[in-house]
Amino acid sequence: MNKPSVLIAGAQFGDEGKGKIVDLLVQKGDLDVVVRFNGGANAGHTIVLDDGKYPLHLIPSGILHKETINIIAAGVVVDPLFLVKEIENLATRGISCENLFLSDRAHMVMPWHRALDAQQGGRLGTTAKGIGPCYEDRAGRRGLRVGDLINEDGQIDVEHFSQRVREVCAEKNVQFEKVHNLPGLNPDEIIAEFVKAAETFKSKVRDTGAMIASLIQEGKSFLYEGAQGSLLDVDWGTYPYVTSSSVGLAGCYVGTGNCVLPEIRMGVVKAYGTRVGEGVFPAELGAYERIKEQDKVPPGGTLPPLTPEEQKLASDGDEYWMGRWLRAVGAEYGTTTGRPRRCGWLDVVAVRQAVRMSGLNQIALTKLDVLDGIPKLKVCVAYDYHGKRVTDFPARTHHLQDYKPIYEELEGWETLGKATDFEQLPEQAKTYVKKLEEWIGVSIKIVSVGSHRASSLWR
Ligand code: IMP
Repeated sequence: MNKPSVLIAGAQFGDEGKGKIVDLLVQKGDLDVVVRFNGGANAGHTIVLDDGKYPLHLIPSGILHKETINIIAAGVVVDPLFLVKEIENLATRGISCENLFLSDRAHMVMPWHRALDAQQGGRLGTTAKGIGPCYEDRAGRRGLRVGDLINEDGQIDVEHFSQRVREVCAEKNVQFEKVHNLPGLNPDEIIAEFVKAAETFKSKVRDTGAMIASLIQEGKSFLYEGAQGSLLDVDWGTYPYVTSSSVGLAGCYVGTGNCVLPEIRMGVVKAYGTRVGEGVFPAELGAYERIKEQDKVPPGGTLPPLTPEEQKLASDGDEYWMGRWLRAVGAEYGTTTGRPRRCGWLDVVAVRQAVRMSGLNQIALTKLDVLDGIPKLKVCVAYDYHGKRVTDFPARTHHLQDYKPIYEELEGWETLGKATDFEQLPEQAKTYVKKLEEWIGVSIKIVSVGSHRASSLWR
């Protein structure tokens, strides 16, 4: 019998801790292939090992395991310059990318995409990595794919690539000059940079759709690693404050080009809520305007822990300080952008939508330890919309300020301590987990209680 395959899907606004869960599952040893199927370098998956942190953006989280095959599938938008940097960075830490493969159908993020995202993405708070403009060109049939740069024999197709770059760049330059009042880009520089970068990855380019199909035939087990979270899904998220791809199972079909239904569909849920960038966030704690200013830290920095007086303010109901408590303890800063993340209580209305979208049948609950010491915990179980109880995530996000979270309150705990088994957790923590299971309607299989691989309790 084949070993079961797994889908990992973020069930909130991204940053749920998917990288750690992927690494944990791959390390357990039953998975042969890890596939990224959506998004691009906007994702930030961090894996913590004994020798430090490994932040990954484009490369699948299975790369730290020598034997694992890692595939960047067709649904991913790939910035080749970024990819090469990521490969080189891993090499300096002794990680080989020999088992990394890249789809010939993946669209390439071009310098004009990054420049346009920097111009237009600010309103939506994008990561400015060129993701949105690249997906737009894919739908507009102007995109350049990896197969436009590398031919069937794994060689760089300078002639074809140069022609395509010149064609599209000429169009984009009109837009830069006439609409944005900016100087145009130089196609020759772009061609030279890309041709140089292609030397590093040309041997990795494959028809990954066919490759995945034959690996399935061989009985290999897969982990399909979703980027972002269900509330950032282009259709089902908080539109227009969303990313530009389908996340979860739908994205997996599109990206892999195979009719895969992984036996295990695991949603990753953080024990509280966070969001980076603009857009609605119903169970948010504290006003975003204040957070943006007051909770800024230098790149790589974190906030100091709250003083007892600040903790008292938080416990007495001051939402800014409760949000800041989560941000400080959870080190909630964007891996890709370094922006302070907005924090809030866990919203099970949103998680239930993720369950529906991807047919989730297991949950991994992350960062439970961050809730240590908070006397009373709240969970949003529904919204009140002008006196009506609403249990489905609303489409009209421009009215979302009128949807007031309805909270259930649960007792907190002092500390999770050094529990190595779920049963050793404080009673209140066990109740928190069990109540979430009840409200979400899916069993919680993994409870993560620290950033290290070892801090994971299986149930
Ligand atoms: P884009 O994906 O760069 O276009 O950004 C669109 C929105 O998605 C912004 O609010 C980003 O902050 C958010 N976003 C994109 N990728 C991630 C992620 O991996 N984690 C969290 N938020 C993300």
